[in-house]
Amino acid sequence: MSPPKPLFTDESLSFKVKTLNGKYVKYINLDNGATTTPFASLKQYVDEMLDTYGSVHRGSGQKSIITTREYDASRNFIREFVGSSLNNYVIFAKNTTEAINGAATLWAKKPGKILVSDIEHSSNLLPWVTRDEVVQYRTQTDGSVSVAEIEDIFKAHQNLPKAEQIKLVTITGASTITGYKPPIYEIAALAHRYGAKIFADVCQLIQHERVDMRADDDPCHLDFVAFSGHKMYAPYGTGVLLGPKEFFDTIH
Ligand SMILES: Cc1ncc(COP(=O)(O)O)c(C=O)c1O
Repeated sequence: MSPPKPLFTDESLSFKVKTLNGKYVKYINLDNGATTTPFASLKQYVDEMLDTYGSVHRGSGQKSIITTREYDASRNFIREFVGSSLNNYVIFAKNTTEAINGAATLWAKKPGKILVSDIEHSSNLLPWVTRDEVVQYRTQTDGSVSVAEIEDIFKAHQNLPKAEQIKLVTITGASTITGYKPPIYEIAALAHRYGAKIFADVCQLIQHERVDMRADDDPCHLDFVAFSGHKMYAPYGTGVLLGPKEFFDTIH
């Protein structure tokens, strides 16, 4: 009997790279944090889908119907993948950066300040600082987060006029540089206690452990999350933003 076929195979393992002495050696990708090589099974799936590809929500031919069905089903899959409530939209973007830019543009329409930590990737810093008033939280010397210190910031702002209060905390699920994982659920509970929301950039966390947005009535729930397919062995070009329908429907 032949051995079972592995569910995921990494074709990039057969890629050879030319070294300075002219020899070809096996390429080992150590930069999965930046982007991952798609698994062979995923490439095959995409290839199969291309055979039945048709325009989404814009046609009544068989290919359109098949592609629209898969496209819509992917939203439910993503919702379940991150334990999202049905009250959230699943919004596709090109990558995490585009997802965060979209969210930051909308958040800038609301009064209040954004609390950003100093261990954010530029993609979870620039979109906010270029559009909104930001308060920066300085992590400890070892790069870790003190929830008590974040609470001090909330306390310092809570009795100020609405425009000066913290409306949103945006925080990475895992640092790109050190791998440190801030206690995002504790920070969520804290933000909610002070009437704020939380945005978790989970694009360096989600490929390592389960991200669970949790039920809306759970004090630790994550209001917004964003992540990218290309950091979790999917082809480049897909990012996702999840957040409350109520937020997107009422913002103007
Ligand atoms: C923590 C973090 N957030 C956001 C990004 C941006 O992701 P993308 O390139 O998918 O937009 C990165 C990319 O390395 C990252 O490490």
